[in-house]
Amino acid sequence: SMPAYACQRPSPLTHHNTLLSEALETLAEAAGFEANEGRLLSFSRAASVLKSLPCPVASLSQLHGLPYFGEHSTRVIQELLEHGTCEEVKQVRCSERYQTMKLFTQVFGVGVKTANRWYQEGLRTLDELREQPQRLTQQQKAGLQYYQDLSTPVRRADAEALQQLIEAAVRQTLPGATVTLTGGFRRGKLQGHDVDFLITHPEEGQEVGLLPKVMSCLQSQGLVLYHQYHRSHLADSAHNLRQRSSTMDVFERSFCILGLPQPQQAALAGALPPCPTWKAVRVDLVVTPSSQFPFALLGWTGSQFFERELRRFSRQEKGLWLNSHGLFDPEQKRVFHATSEEDVFRLLGLKYLPPEQRNA
Ligand code: UTP
Ligand code: MN
Repeated sequence: SMPAYACQRPSPLTHHNTLLSEALETLAEAAGFEANEGRLLSFSRAASVLKSLPCPVASLSQLHGLPYFGEHSTRVIQELLEHGTCEEVKQVRCSERYQTMKLFTQVFGVGVKTANRWYQEGLRTLDELREQPQRLTQQQKAGLQYYQDLSTPVRRADAEALQQLIEAAVRQTLPGATVTLTGGFRRGKLQGHDVDFLITHPEEGQEVGLLPKVMSCLQSQGLVLYHQYHRSHLADSAHNLRQRSSTMDVFERSFCILGLPQPQQAALAGALPPCPTWKAVRVDLVVTPSSQFPFALLGWTGSQFFERELRRFSRQEKGLWLNSHGLFDPEQKRVFHATSEEDVFRLLGLKYLPPEQRNA
């Protein structure tokens, strides 16, 4: 039997039903483009169930009793099992609507709302966006400027090289501060769309104001192509934690694009074209006070769907509100203390799942 919430079961990075889960995820993504939250959730939940199965689905009967397999998801799987493809999924993937929304939302700084507005106005290509710079935010301009690099997956080696650079800058700014790689790379992914780091210091309070100094250090090395700094709103975070709808965190952070120096290949007697000396990479730097670190680590490790499920489980099954700052009991009006991710799982009555099993 399969538990209903993704946070109650392991979801490994590679599983036995990739073709099937990807088909449902395409339909989920397309539903998201239409702002159809209900449909997005149904397909995401069904796709996620497939990721936790111990073997490939070979016949429809194997779906019986699995949570979240409604009529529509079942029909998609049936078609895939019988014909190897699904007409609806194929049509979505080929459609101008899906392809354009995918293209636009891939630009740094562009969400579904903006992409949809542009689509409704008849815009279809990145060049058409570039022709209207007055309508673009600074972030979107940078996203378009570095689009080619940013749409190329970041490799693990790049993430590790970035960690070295950022650790050096942090060490120089505040001895004792630590840098932790989070996001997809912490879950074991071999590539990602960006690199996420959490910065903290064991002595709470030392981390305040750290990020602008780290950014200047990176800037003085010529590594920063774009950055957008957000000061901490932690003064409001107790309040934030009590807002059940609020999933946005209020840590001090920097959304940046760094120019990562690329190792130079030895040119084989001119056989290779000269390779570029740097590659633009999206990097998120987030600073957390040490008392909130376990919650921030859990919140930033993802996957996004796993986080969503974890919060839904906390709320619906435990009556507790979870976010990247902490865990709150709205009845007793108290916050919980945790020193590790294991603590947070324990507080929620969940079996601990290591990051590699959170690829829901
Ligand atoms: P990402 O969007 O970076 O995803 O968010 P990822 O899993 O690393 O995969 P890539 O980068 O596409 O390869 C990482 C985690 O950080 C949380 C998300 O919920 C996700 O769980 N996050 C992201 C936040 O909490 N706040 C944000 O503003 C952004
Ligand atoms: Mn990421």
